[in-house]
Amino acid sequence: MDITDIKKIAVIGMGTMGPGIAQVMAHAGYEVAGYDLNKDSYPLARQVIANNLDLLIEAGMAKPEDLDKTMAKIKLVDTMEEALDGAQVVVEAVSEKRPIKKAVYEEIDKIASPDAMIWSNTSTLNIFDLMVPARLPRTIIVHWFAPPQVLPLIEVVQGSETLPEVVDLTLPFLEGLGKRPVLIKNYVPGFIINRLLRILGRETYFLLDNGYVTPEDLDMAVKASIAPRMMVLGLAQRYDFTGLDLTYANLHNEEFVDAPVDDEPEFVVSRVKKNHLGIKTGIGVYDYRGRDKADVIKDRDRYLLKVVNSLQFCLEKKRLL
Ligand SMILES: NC(=O)c1ccc[n+]([C@@H]2O[C@H](COP(=O)([O-])OP(=O)(O)OC[C@H]3O[C@@H](n4cnc5c(N)ncnc54)[C@H](O)[C@@H]3O)[C@@H](O)[C@H]2O)c1
Repeated sequence: MDITDIKKIAVIGMGTMGPGIAQVMAHAGYEVAGYDLNKDSYPLARQVIANNLDLLIEAGMAKPEDLDKTMAKIKLVDTMEEALDGAQVVVEAVSEKRPIKKAVYEEIDKIASPDAMIWSNTSTLNIFDLMVPARLPRTIIVHWFAPPQVLPLIEVVQGSETLPEVVDLTLPFLEGLGKRPVLIKNYVPGFIINRLLRILGRETYFLLDNGYVTPEDLDMAVKASIAPRMMVLGLAQRYDFTGLDLTYANLHNEEFVDAPVDDEPEFVVSRVKKNHLGIKTGIGVYDYRGRDKADVIKDRDRYLLKVVNSLQFCLEKKRLL
């Protein structure tokens, strides 16, 4: 298969992630068939895509005529057969539960063309263990970040049986969508970003639970320091500026004690007990009560678009420094 042979994409699962992924593909001109077991998800999916496009137009990242053109390229269909018919790429974005993924892979295997590539959006699962073995050579993890129509990173994880030609098709295809795919050469739980976030989470809970800092000040500290610095230097290049000798000495600083592993941090547990789950219940770390959930999400996306748009120069493939 050549990249120009890709004409139709099937997106299986129209929950939180599916609609944004479908939107990016359709905006780039591909025919998209969305499918979900739960047809009640379709009106919301359509609404979310239309709202997302409105925001892109407002940010100058899409033209007003793109709204109708993109919507016309997305068909939300009744059956898996209709979705997979003629699709060169199958995007699996169903619930993150092993039995659900496994059953969906068996269904896909029965229907999809033998040449079709299967891209899983799993965040954590080793889906290579769940896939029908005959499909492994054309299966790859293609992990988008929420909101997928805004954030450029896509983690692409090659399985031990994934054919090199599948990797060689997937990466340029995603770049053609304006994304920044990064290849992970073998499955490791959490890939890159969720591994890093896990460590940052542990330190966040430690600092907050021990009363060293408020959530507001912790967030300000991050936004005013490592967030912009990371945009210029990432994580690895930063050591060239710190100096690797100093980095080595820091590793052996005996006064620095790592936060203990704590799977029951008060910061999380106390809020879960009160049903303070975040924007879905109107209150979590911060209080959003009295505001419409969709408006809060829209504002978040508006700010994210502003940031991503103005920092594009940091995402050029050629090195900044
Ligand atoms: N939510 C995020 O922030 C996020 C970010 C990156 C990756 N992911 C990954 O993307 C995938 C989807 O996550 P989500 O948050 O969109 O989940 P979700 O629960 O919001 O949506 C999943 C959808 O799958 C549908 N589904 C379940 N069984 C099905 C079946 N047999 N056939 C067709 N559809 C079926 C459900 O009806 C639901 O609409 C997961 O693997 C998740 O780990 C999620």
